Amino acid sequence: MTQTELRLAPNGLFVPLSGGETYFNYHWLRDACPTTIDGQTRERVFDITALGAPPVARAARVEDQTLVIEWANEDHVTQLGLDRLEAFVRNGQNPDPADLHKRLWYAGHDASFLRISQAEVEDTDAGCARLARALIEEGVALVTDMEDSDESLERLVNRLGPITPTAEGAFFQVRLEIAPTNLAFTAGPLEMHTDLPGEEMAPGVQFLHCRANTVEGGRSLFLDGAAVAEALRAEDPAAFDLLATHAIPFFYRHDGWDYRAHQKVIELDAQGQVSGVTISQHLQDDMDLPQDVLDDYYPAFCKLIRMMQDERFLCRFRLNAGECIVFDNHRVVHGREGFSAESGQRHLRGCYTDRGATWSTYRVLSGTEHATKVA
Ligand SMILES: [Fe+2]
Repeated sequence: MTQTELRLAPNGLFVPLSGGETYFNYHWLRDACPTTIDGQTRERVFDITALGAPPVARAARVEDQTLVIEWANEDHVTQLGLDRLEAFVRNGQNPDPADLHKRLWYAGHDASFLRISQAEVEDTDAGCARLARALIEEGVALVTDMEDSDESLERLVNRLGPITPTAEGAFFQVRLEIAPTNLAFTAGPLEMHTDLPGEEMAPGVQFLHCRANTVEGGRSLFLDGAAVAEALRAEDPAAFDLLATHAIPFFYRHDGWDYRAHQKVIELDAQGQVSGVTISQHLQDDMDLPQDVLDDYYPAFCKLIRMMQDERFLCRFRLNAGECIVFDNHRVVHGREGFSAESGQRHLRGCYTDRGATWSTYRVLSGTEHATKVA
């Protein structure tokens, strides 16, 4: 058995890892002790604030790839595998299977969207994992061979997560209505937008199940908002910064509801990468930034919207009956060409689930997506 005594400091200790001697704080190490997690509930059952004194090591050593800490002031020994510490240092956090590289996409990419049958998603873990992975990496996928029933959409969504209701209820219908509550329910063109920015947290993953589409026109328009935002950053960094810094007001109102919320048009993650966009001119309230800030903000805002009409980003395609487009409502911007209302039927049925639920499903199923057959 190999054994190495470790160097101790007042608030932590040094562990020899592959990248060299690495410092860890005592509070962090005490909380990271595997005994703090209950095996049954998988929740933390240790309260670090209940210790009589701050955690300090009396002695610490590495024994056969395991860090062993004998704590002063309490009768407890912590054993932590060095592989876990290595993984934490490598990622700066616990490894996350859903932390996948986001691939930006451009015009024509609709031919390369993941196409996967409803049966494959419903009946195999591998299929469900492939769908969830596509939503993380590209923010979009097409589910094909959908059963022509209301229940089929409910079953599909529930593979990824519970349905997120909105003011319209659990499901919404996109078809012509006599007294529409939304421009989507008319035959006119629908500008590029993300859904429901007036909600405190706009719905995460959107499903649009095409039940009928025999009209002339009415092609679907989709683009990768992250790709457009990154292009804006490259072309006009000052405009990008304005849109990523200031929040602007959106609403969603009708007889029985009056939602209002401020959103940043460009959302950044903790690393400064574009994680999404929020855009909807038809649900945008009067800008309430200081008027002199608007002197610069409005041109930046208009520039981004014009870029969203640029052919280099737009995917135009016809959604067919039996297909369901699934997309990240915080990243993928969608719209529709106008259509001739008398030329046939156009009926989409939609709903949402959370992004968090979708990422959770991917974590649970990750590693199965390359399997040929999973029960
Ligand atoms: Fe929409």
